[in-house]
Amino acid sequence: MDAQGSPEKEIPKRTKEDVFDLLVRRGFIIPSSEIYGGLSGFYDFGHLGSLVKRKLIDNWRDWAVRREGFFEIDGSSVVRKEVVEASGHLKSFVDPVVKCEKCFDAFRADHLVEEKLGKYVEGMTNEEIGKFFSEEKISCPTCGERLSGAVNSFQMMFGISVGAGKKAIESYLRPETAQSIFINFPRVFRATREKLPMGVAQAGKAFRNEISPRQGMIRMREFEQLEIEIFLDPEKLEEGMSDWDGIKGTVVEFVKEDVSERATVESLFAEGKVPAKHLAYWIGKEQVFYSDILGIPAEGIRFKFLPKAETPFYSKGNIDMEVKTLYGWKETIGNAYRTDYDLSTHIKHSGKDFSVTLPDGRKIVPHVIEPSWGLQRMFYCALEAGYRQKGEGRDWVWLDIPFSIAPYSAHVFPLMKRDGLDSLGKKIWKTLSAKGIDCLYDETGSIGKRYARADEIGCPFAITVDYESLENGTVTLRERNSMAQERVKIEELGEIMGKKLAEDREKRN
Ligand code: GAP
Repeated sequence: MDAQGSPEKEIPKRTKEDVFDLLVRRGFIIPSSEIYGGLSGFYDFGHLGSLVKRKLIDNWRDWAVRREGFFEIDGSSVVRKEVVEASGHLKSFVDPVVKCEKCFDAFRADHLVEEKLGKYVEGMTNEEIGKFFSEEKISCPTCGERLSGAVNSFQMMFGISVGAGKKAIESYLRPETAQSIFINFPRVFRATREKLPMGVAQAGKAFRNEISPRQGMIRMREFEQLEIEIFLDPEKLEEGMSDWDGIKGTVVEFVKEDVSERATVESLFAEGKVPAKHLAYWIGKEQVFYSDILGIPAEGIRFKFLPKAETPFYSKGNIDMEVKTLYGWKETIGNAYRTDYDLSTHIKHSGKDFSVTLPDGRKIVPHVIEPSWGLQRMFYCALEAGYRQKGEGRDWVWLDIPFSIAPYSAHVFPLMKRDGLDSLGKKIWKTLSAKGIDCLYDETGSIGKRYARADEIGCPFAITVDYESLENGTVTLRERNSMAQERVKIEELGEIMGKKLAEDREKRN
């Protein structure tokens, strides 16, 4: 019952369709090639999505790159076949696929066994997975025919031919951005300070020909990774963390062999539950980023130590960050201890010297720790976590996302489109824009409708220019979450909003 004694209206539970509808309707994302029927596994970022994406990358760059003193590169999306041959992707980056003999549609065999029989098949061979199809009745999701064909390996990389005629070079779209960092290691090392530890970061595109891309932005064929490769002296694996003391007390939910515990990253390392101190450090940093910067509630974040069968072929230990979404728990970050696997394999295949001579005279191949973040999953998780249903605090859908990742920091509204209110509004918009603040000038519709439009895209501030503004140079500043309005001087707007942005960050810490 509400305060008046009338029954409270039940707020419908938000669904993934609600969130998706908002993202598409307001132009955060656009299904790729939509006018020709769409292309599954691809989404374009619209205007608002591009703004949010840029802010996510800026925040990552600040938290994970700049504060660690790391370097950055921006590699080509296309690599020669030799790169993925050496890295092992050509042989091992495959998914088990089963084809329907009636309608010829193809499916992820492991997913079907998991979905239809509830059996977990990670790490099994194609023959072992195939047995489920011959022994149990699994129907084709498209036509209903029993699937009984063999399970085969499907190469997940997109192969392309670069150039024409006999000069054409067999190449691939890179399946992970990491390889660009590995193959460029000697040059980056020489061009920087020739010192270990050395971290090299990259924000860039990766491509995977997923058999059944689904779940919106969770499983895509073209996506972006924010990857860091930290190169270490194998005898000094504990060096190179810029703020261990600040991070070591961070509490995370850690799952290993189906046992879940809440513990500090320091204790997880001390008790040998995490195979490298850097991995403990990075899961702590990731916890802080996802909760404080993206606004994901702590109970919706966990770290899973992967069992051997799920650990990638190149890794000596993997810890995935998972976030609880409307699609279930989803991996958003993969942390791996890649040892010297990648550099050694490129030494072997290219014949080039990737070793490093240390000041003490030792010649070594560095070991690598890799925090690999997926941008699209991060983007979706942040917007889903902020999504507020109509009835949750106001009569319209709105986004309670952290101020620092909102597409616009402010909307500027003149009360009327006349009497000089519009020209003063445009002047404020121009001044704030020139200060680097993303803001939007909007003069259409009632003020209430304009507030709703701004709330719906998570804009933290609305600035209204009214007749009083013409008299005394003040405007009303409305804050998205509290909806509180205060009168402030126009020339103090930038400073006041800056302070509130910092407070929002603090509050979420
Ligand atoms: N270099 C290591 C690597 O690529 P990964 O676990 O395969 O590891 C890292 O990928 C992250 O990239 C994942 O945690 C996820 O966020 C993102 N990612 C991977 N495949 C994806 C896909 N098909 N669609 C969207 N994001 C994906």
